[in-house]
Amino acid sequence: MYQTINTRLEKSIFVITINRPDKLNALNEIMIGELALAVDEVYNNVDIRSAIITGSGIKAFVAGADINEFFNIGNDGTAIAKKGQDVFFKIENSPKPIIAAVNGFALGGGCELAMACHFRIAADNAKFGQPEINLGLIPGYGGTQRLTQLIGKGRAIELMLSAVFIDAATALQYGLVNYVVPQEELMNKSIAVLSLINEKPSVAVANCIEAANALSDHSKNGYEVEAACFGKCFNTQDMKEGITAFLEKRKANFTGK
Ligand code: COA
Repeated sequence: MYQTINTRLEKSIFVITINRPDKLNALNEIMIGELALAVDEVYNNVDIRSAIITGSGIKAFVAGADINEFFNIGNDGTAIAKKGQDVFFKIENSPKPIIAAVNGFALGGGCELAMACHFRIAADNAKFGQPEINLGLIPGYGGTQRLTQLIGKGRAIELMLSAVFIDAATALQYGLVNYVVPQEELMNKSIAVLSLINEKPSVAVANCIEAANALSDHSKNGYEVEAACFGKCFNTQDMKEGITAFLEKRKANFTGK
């Protein structure tokens, strides 16, 4: 059905695999469009509780935007950046968690894709970087904002200006990833982390994401968003079930209502 990605559903987890291993999974225009469609599936398919984005092969998650396309996709750089940003916003604003399982190089648009996800788990061979400066460019799919937010301004500016790659251990130390695991453990670990989250009440999960995302939306007061999101969870059936189960000393049985 898709040309540049594969998808599969495993234990309510939608696994989206970027699939151009011969080009180190470089992001081209078709792939950006297909990624948007796959994320629409995450939003709309009730059987999907969460998602993983990963790359095919053992060498690369995504080694950046497809550099070969840069001369063929028009002259309006702003529009090109906005198109990618829109898809990445869709990932970031997904009401269901979407995580990146980073199985190798996450460079340029690949690092930006991983950062648009709600959090990241890295294989021990992962490498992160924003080398656009070497092409006379800057990150355009949200990297200047998300990298700065995730690892702090000094480290982010150094990475963007130097084009230096960091390894998985450094990414862990910087807080860019939550875990580093052996390559062969990457999917198991990602599935285990999401399986735990999938048991939680989905309305609260969605509202947690919405409230946390308000931090980077300057048009919003995060505390007001948080109060409104708290309000959307309050008095739901799942809240009543969670509280009743706690009082009755039993496991809650959440229904997503
Ligand atoms: N766009 C298009 N093609 C890319 C690509 C990209 N971002 N990254 C890698 N490829 C292609 C290479 O051109 C090569 O294709 P070929 O076999 O047809 O020549 C193939 O993927 C394998 O890459 P190669 O460079 O041979 O692997 P390597 O192990 O020597 O180096 C990297 C790996 C990641 C260091 C190197 O590919 C690289 O620097 N890529 C570009 C990273 C980048 O600048 N990304 C930001 C783009 S905005």
